[in-house]
Amino acid sequence: MTKSIGIGLVGCGIVGTGLLQQLKENASAIEGRLGVPLDVRRIAVRDVTTVRSDLVPRDKLTTDPMELVNDPDIQVIVEVMGGVERAYEVVRAAILAGKHVVTANKALLAERGAEIWNLAEEQGVDLYYEAAVAGGIPIIRVLREALASERILAIRGIVNGTSNYILSRMTEEGLSFDVALAEAQAAGYAEADPTLDVGGGDACHKIAILATLAFGQRVPADQIPTEGIDRLSPVDITFARRLGFIIKPLAVARVAGDALDLRVHPALVPIEATLATVHGALNAVAIEGALLGPVLMSGPGAGAGPTATSVAGDVLDIARNLECRAHSRVPARGFRRVALSDAKLRDIGDHRGRFYLRLTVDDRPGVLGAVTSALGDNDVSIEQMFQEGGWQRGKRSDTGPVSVVLLTHRATERNVRAALAVIERHDAIVAPTQLLRIEE
Ligand code: NDP
Ligand code: HSE
Repeated sequence: MTKSIGIGLVGCGIVGTGLLQQLKENASAIEGRLGVPLDVRRIAVRDVTTVRSDLVPRDKLTTDPMELVNDPDIQVIVEVMGGVERAYEVVRAAILAGKHVVTANKALLAERGAEIWNLAEEQGVDLYYEAAVAGGIPIIRVLREALASERILAIRGIVNGTSNYILSRMTEEGLSFDVALAEAQAAGYAEADPTLDVGGGDACHKIAILATLAFGQRVPADQIPTEGIDRLSPVDITFARRLGFIIKPLAVARVAGDALDLRVHPALVPIEATLATVHGALNAVAIEGALLGPVLMSGPGAGAGPTATSVAGDVLDIARNLECRAHSRVPARGFRRVALSDAKLRDIGDHRGRFYLRLTVDDRPGVLGAVTSALGDNDVSIEQMFQEGGWQRGKRSDTGPVSVVLLTHRATERNVRAALAVIERHDAIVAPTQLLRIEE
């Protein structure tokens, strides 16, 4: 009988089914590269009665992932079920059973990664996770292996395909947020709970993972300042364009003195900037190395095919390690465990840059004076300002509130927020002010 490497697939939704397709369509190339075939021996799902693609062999289905973990013919567990607690139990049990693990689950890694990476190191098994960040872009391997000798200064990127897709469709086609989100869900880009995408949580998990790989520091994901695209209004997209910007969902990890500047938020990016040209579900990650300089990687950030390619690449890596008994050669987090330290995060108030402010005000005398005084009193200088509304086609439309849009010169976020605290106490301000950062 031909020797094969046994895979246990935990989860067979978008990514799991994509993996079955990848392994089937490219079986001969995979065997050519590996020397042995890969064999998916069992598949765990939530409901075995669900109608599935022909790629899914019904006789291999079970609802109990532990059957896979305890199967002696399975060497590699692929966890693509999502969620944190149950996935943690399965991955932990798999490691303790001596199985190597591939996961695409960034929420699991950001929240429980330290425990499972440590356990994997102790047990001498590999735990790979290329698909967990930026879908089909091999960013983990690049940071962990190709750039292993380099001192990384900064990573800036678009790492949530769903958010980028939604903003692209709203910007280019004028779609509503809800319609664009429904499209992203139908295309298989979104998380089971899409608030993770549009609220910034998914990008927060990903930038925490990248920061550990880049800087050798353990990052508490729940302390990263995180804002999602769900706080944007279509008028912000319109105003930004009028000012020469496009709004992109950014994640930043940067060395800032003895701290790390980590943040996730939608940002105004100049329309001619490279990141402004990354559309739809594409992701892009710009790395800046001390001696290397800038490197940009872009590609599909979500969806069955790209994600499954990354998962399959990890499975092949593990299979190669198994073939030459070389597991644990590359530390999962890039750095040896003893070399990792706890990250100190920079206060977002120390962020310095230009800001976009959109105020909603009653159009009456003295309001702009109060706004500009509060900004000036806090050392915030105005670069551009316009007022929209009140008049339409040469006629005064009504007496309702109007938008006042300001771009500031470079200022600290602490000062801008102090000015806004004063401004928002003015009785002419009728809605919370929109504050967006400009990323140059
Ligand atoms: P899906 O919701 O499409 O699939 C999840 C699968 O897991 C389903 O087959 C489901 O079973 C199964 N499952 C869920 N809970 C259990 C359980 N308790 N026991 C057994 N099986 C279970 O998710 P995706 O494929 O989209 O995502 C999977 C993982 O990959 C997530 O961690 C996600 O963050 C990550 N990821 C996804 C990407 C994407 O583009 N979709 C990209 C990168 C990473 P059933 O079919 O019966 O419901
Ligand atoms: N929901 C994620 C995204 C999947 O849209 O980017 C890829 O991690």
